[in-house]
Order: sequence, then structure tokens, then C-alpha cells
Amino acid sequence: MILQLKGELNMPWTPNLSVGVRLIDEQHKTWFEKAEKLFEAGQKGQAKEYVGELLAFLDDYTRRHFADEEKYMLSIQYPGYNDQKAAHAQFIQKLAKLRADYDTSGGNLLVILGANQMVLDWLTKHISTMDKKIGEFAKSTGR
Ligand SMILES: [Fe+2]
Ligand SMILES: [Fe+2]
Repeated sequence: MILQLKGELNMPWTPNLSVGVRLIDEQHKTWFEKAEKLFEAGQKGQAKEYVGELLAFLDDYTRRHFADEEKYMLSIQYPGYNDQKAAHAQFIQKLAKLRADYDTSGGNLLVILGANQMVLDWLTKHISTMDKKIGEFAKSTGR
């Protein structure tokens, strides 16, 4: 089982995920780094407390990023603000569930690795389908 879990992180931040707004892109990169750390900790089977800390950190960073991104959208009067806000709220719930699952599992490695795939899939999809549109809008209005 452990062997199957080894391998490269298959979805890091890449330039094609660029939104074209510097603050947002920088935060997205950091976000992927945090998710990667969590993935590594899961792979190495690191201590429950450490993984718990990383999860808390990811949760914290996610909230900060969403708040900043929402503030930016308001500042440019982005028309898709409400959809973004709803998607963000949904993800915060997913993260909360993940933390709860991790705690009730007693720090199970598979919970972390499965959860991590969920996090990376969500990030990649959300950035490429929704966040990119913020940058496109900003560019089209010259803001
Ligand atoms: Fe974002
Ligand atoms: Fe977003």
C-alpha cells in the first residue's frame, strides 16, 4: 500500500494556471506549496499533530486567500462575485469536513492522501474555470 502512495505531486501550480493578477497568482502558488507539504507529510507518515497543524495552516491560508480575492473582485466590480463567494464557502466546508474526518480517523494516512487529491483537484479546477475569469474581466475593463 505504501508503495502505491509514493510518487510525484501531479498537480503543482504551473504558469497556465496564471490568472494575470499578481497578488492572486502569488497566493495561488503559496496555496499549492501548502497543499504539497500536506501531501508530503501524508506520504512520509508524519506525526498526527504535525499533519493536524498543516491542515489548520491550509485552512487558515485558504480563508485569507478567499477574503483577499473577494476584496479584489469587489474593487473591480466583478460581475461573478456571488458565484465565486458561494464556491469559496463550499470549499471551506469541504476543508472543515476533511479536518473532522482526519481527527475522527485518529490521524489516518489514507484520509490525508485522499483528501489531498480532493484539495488539488478543487484548486486546479476552480482556478482554471473561475479565477481566470477574474483576470480576463480585469484586463477587458483595463482595471
Ligand atoms: Fe483563488
Ligand atoms: Fe476563487
